[in-house]
Amino acid sequence: MNAEEARKRIEELSGKINDHNYRYYVLTDPVISDFEFDQLVEELISLEKRFPQFLDKNSPSQRVGGQITKKFPAVKHKYPMLSLSNTYSREELNAFDQRVRKALDESYEYVCELKFDGVAIGLTYRQGELQRGVTRGDGVQGDEITTNIKTIPSIPLKLEPIKDVPEFEVRGEVYMPHKSFMQLNKAKEDKGEAIFANPRNAAAGSLKLQDSALVARRHLDCFIYGVLGEDLPFDNHWDSLSTLKKWGFKVSDRAAKCTGIEEVFRFITNIEADRGHLPFDIDGVVIKVNSYRQQEKLGYTSKFPRWAISYKFQAERGLTKLIDVVYQVGRTGAVTPVAVLEPVTIAGSTVRRASLYNQDRMEELGLHKKDSVYVEKGGDIIPKIVGVDKSLRPADASPVRFVENCPECGTSLNRDHGEAAHYCPNSGECPPQIQGRIEHFISRRAMNIDSLGQGKTELLIRKGKISNIADLYDLSHDDLIGLEKTITDPQTGKSRTLSFREKTVSNILDAIRASKEVLFERVLYALGVRHLGETMARKLARHFGNIDNLMRAGREELLQVDDVGDKVASSIVAHFNDPENRAILDRLRKAGLIFSCEETPASSSKDNLSGMAFVISGVFHQHSRDEIRQRIENFGGEVKSSVSSKTDYLVAGENMGPEKRKKAEALGVPVISEEELLNMMNSIL
Ligand code: IVH
Repeated sequence: MNAEEARKRIEELSGKINDHNYRYYVLTDPVISDFEFDQLVEELISLEKRFPQFLDKNSPSQRVGGQITKKFPAVKHKYPMLSLSNTYSREELNAFDQRVRKALDESYEYVCELKFDGVAIGLTYRQGELQRGVTRGDGVQGDEITTNIKTIPSIPLKLEPIKDVPEFEVRGEVYMPHKSFMQLNKAKEDKGEAIFANPRNAAAGSLKLQDSALVARRHLDCFIYGVLGEDLPFDNHWDSLSTLKKWGFKVSDRAAKCTGIEEVFRFITNIEADRGHLPFDIDGVVIKVNSYRQQEKLGYTSKFPRWAISYKFQAERGLTKLIDVVYQVGRTGAVTPVAVLEPVTIAGSTVRRASLYNQDRMEELGLHKKDSVYVEKGGDIIPKIVGVDKSLRPADASPVRFVENCPECGTSLNRDHGEAAHYCPNSGECPPQIQGRIEHFISRRAMNIDSLGQGKTELLIRKGKISNIADLYDLSHDDLIGLEKTITDPQTGKSRTLSFREKTVSNILDAIRASKEVLFERVLYALGVRHLGETMARKLARHFGNIDNLMRAGREELLQVDDVGDKVASSIVAHFNDPENRAILDRLRKAGLIFSCEETPASSSKDNLSGMAFVISGVFHQHSRDEIRQRIENFGGEVKSSVSSKTDYLVAGENMGPEKRKKAEALGVPVISEEELLNMMNSIL
């Protein structure tokens, strides 16, 4: 391919990718599969590498990130980024309406919108190209975070140039959808890291990451709710929203033009009822006077526009008494303080406990014993203590101090430099750590010994049958048969007996045996090295090929691996330097677990998909599409991009294009799920 051809192809690919991206993320109406989309991006990236002279700063390839920004420069906003005055009651809203009516003295309309709970940003476009993205900061100047902003797929990088508007700025809110938030916290939990309390904090934290490739993986999104510029082709807010949508921005459909405050109240009532069903957090409704002329007439106070107001939903809050602070010890030894409260009903449910996160948070609150505390259950997943009513504090109350010793085993706690969490270092003997590690090891995404649930491992530990993960492989029929435990349901108070009969025992032993076929990457994850999540374990397994190479690698060598940072590297070195961990590893090897990428499950021949052609389409949950493709190829199969009579199977994920399914059905190509495919490969999940 010569340079001219490359330039043309790059332009063509960029256009196509931008279109598909818009269809997928803004219209949620994709017309090609993710696989086909990825192929276009791959082709573009490889062409841009070969012909760097044609790499555009707003090429869709920039969405995958990769740029590191050590410090985000502070830049001045062209138009100040104001905030809104808040109201919490309908009376206050009525008062706002009265003020507007009096000042305008003519008829007027409102536009009601959702108040998205995220991070405010301003995006400047010049000649249809995104120039910069800036956070609100103090309203006068904010941080320029353009490289991170570009990773958000619903934000257009290029638009069709707009006639007579060479430059404009849109305002919007970057947020983290619930789905991304759950995934992120799950990954953090897996690594034994502190989780984010709510999606807003997660979005704010993500936008501040120095590595934009990591931001890309946080799956942020952005709603646009306003535009500023000269000679804009509309004279009211409502029309601006529909025009922004036409220009390619993601604008929420949940907005309404209202005449009179009664209609505004109806909008609020509807939204309040639906709030729990939205896939993202909102914390209220924003009400804006529609006409720009009227907005100007109303003007601004020193801080807020007089033409808009926010109606904030009450975070449901209750006042109750602190009974005690207890400390939970997780599988990695992280110690979390938890407030035990006198039961209080908030948002229809009874709250008895609230997380205090860590020592710093506890000290910020200045908690004293028997304090009366305000508990909030907002968008957060865990109820939290937001304040203390000091006037109700008993005179002799003493401050609550963070424990110095592990509440479970008495060992003196450590707090690593720069970390918020305390850890119990007695990993070998501390009971919840033993239990947590075993539970992690047997979990579905690790060794998948699912016939051993939580209650059963607890019983085995209590009866002295196991005290570490290697002990599982020494269990015999005689160790298990006849074990018994009474379980009481805390809600109903009813008791039942859990007893190990023949069937249970043979299921457990079968599952333990089957776990010897789990691939190295999962075994590595299952070992429970602190900070080592699933994705990283996979990367390290592939990079080093086997456990010996990994154990031999020093910190420096580990840091060479993509995405491995200080924390993970130090943690891996510490884990494998520990004689107890090494002894466990030796026993696991002797038991026959897989510790190398070359080894494959004994029961499957590695090429049992040989000669078969697959098409992969849609969104998958257990593995990424790339991993699925890799696995198919590892097992001798071939992956094609479109369904034909030569296709053996169509592997269908969620949101697969209907056309593909239709075609497969017409040609009699079997459509299988991810699970069915993995079963075919005889791979253990
Ligand atoms: S309009 C001058 N509309 O709420 C008007 N703001 O206190 C400026 N927000 O941090 C804002 N959803 O980011 C507007 N539909 C919406 C909004 C919204 C969320 C945020 C905004 C700002 C805060 C205003």
